Amino acid sequence: SALHPFLAALPKCEHHVHLEGTLSPNLEFTLAQKNNISLPGNDAAFTSPSSLLERYSHFTSLDDFLHYYFVGMSALITSSDFEELAWEYFKHAAEDGVLHAEVFFDPEAHTSRGVPYQTVVAGFKAACQRAERELGISTELIICVLRHLPVESAMEAYETAVTAGHFADGTLAGLGISSTELNKPPANWKAVFAKAEKQGIRRTAHAAEEGPPQYIADALDILHVQRIDHGRRLVEDPVLMKRVADEGIMLTLCPISNVCLKGMSSMKDMPIRKFLDAGVHFSINSDDPAYFGGYILDNYCAVQETFQLSVDEWNLLAGNAIEGSWCNDERKRELR
Ligand code: HPA
Ligand code: ZN
Repeated sequence: SALHPFLAALPKCEHHVHLEGTLSPNLEFTLAQKNNISLPGNDAAFTSPSSLLERYSHFTSLDDFLHYYFVGMSALITSSDFEELAWEYFKHAAEDGVLHAEVFFDPEAHTSRGVPYQTVVAGFKAACQRAERELGISTELIICVLRHLPVESAMEAYETAVTAGHFADGTLAGLGISSTELNKPPANWKAVFAKAEKQGIRRTAHAAEEGPPQYIADALDILHVQRIDHGRRLVEDPVLMKRVADEGIMLTLCPISNVCLKGMSSMKDMPIRKFLDAGVHFSINSDDPAYFGGYILDNYCAVQETFQLSVDEWNLLAGNAIEGSWCNDERKRELR
């Protein structure tokens, strides 16, 4: 589109990308071979990187994607695997004009298969430091606890991070929750989020990606989150939408992800205009770019092609993304 160079140059903040979701089929196969990990032999999708990529073009739901996402990350074993994964993402983000990246990872998905928490964090942290040094982008790591596992597992993951001193020393910027959503109401994780709140740790939650808008209200009222990841179905509840706008709660939208996982049938159904008109703050993000075929700039361009926002509207969005970031005020001033 005519605005492509403008969108490429626009200073961007990414708030919703799962580092494990940046694992390309090529790197997955390479690391699986290096680490002697066998990918499922009973699924023809794992015949080759190209057949796996082809399978990614027709996900039927969040859970259908999550199956491949959790299988894929089984190829990650050593700190340098995690470092390479994150470094490749940061390079791509920098090329897309990202100046500030807040990235999720799933400690339980690694500890549950015998990879220590410290191995994961050491690799990701090394990549973050290298990105700050060599690419000039600021980074924040956020742990996500997993909704398909028992709440005891989430509490253990959270406590492991606290005991490591990783919230106190700035290695981790906050706590999130992700994975399968239907029939996993936010209230189940109240104890974990209450502990984080008491300890002054920032909180966010995936909500209303597939689940009902009520999960957004629950995340706000019960988990006391400061952001909502996705929140796409907020548009179905105008009263709640006004509240989210009035309270300045930022949604971290992932348009290509939502189309890819069949949350809606086409980009036209993404409530971009409705959120803009209602004064809801949101950022535009990639979620799991290696699985959905689009990094952050692809998401910006897809939104532009469908909604034709003005330069003023893009500048407003970019400003709201800076304001909703979890960096310090000095960095926010630099980003503006
Ligand atoms: N939704 C929920 N959990 C996830 C996602 C997502 O889009 N990506 C990685 N984990
Ligand atoms: Zn996500």
